[in-house]
Amino acid sequence: MRIVVDRDRCMGHAVCALMAPDLMELDDLGYNVTGEAKVEPADEALARRAAGACPEGAIAVVDA
Ligand code: F3S
Repeated sequence: MRIVVDRDRCMGHAVCALMAPDLMELDDLGYNVTGEAKVEPADEALARRAAGACPEGAIAVVDA
């Protein structure tokens, strides 16, 4: 599984990083700059919750 972050939709709410700090990378202004990242099976549930918590829908969860 992978997460794909749409940087153009990110508004810097940072909920994602609060929920999953090891999966999300924020810049100095609090915008998500993770881009695309592989998620280990043990972290998949956490990644889905973090993606679902983003108010802007900026984080997609992609199987594969
Ligand atoms: Fe951005 Fe959403 Fe996270 S707006 S900082 S991707 S909670």
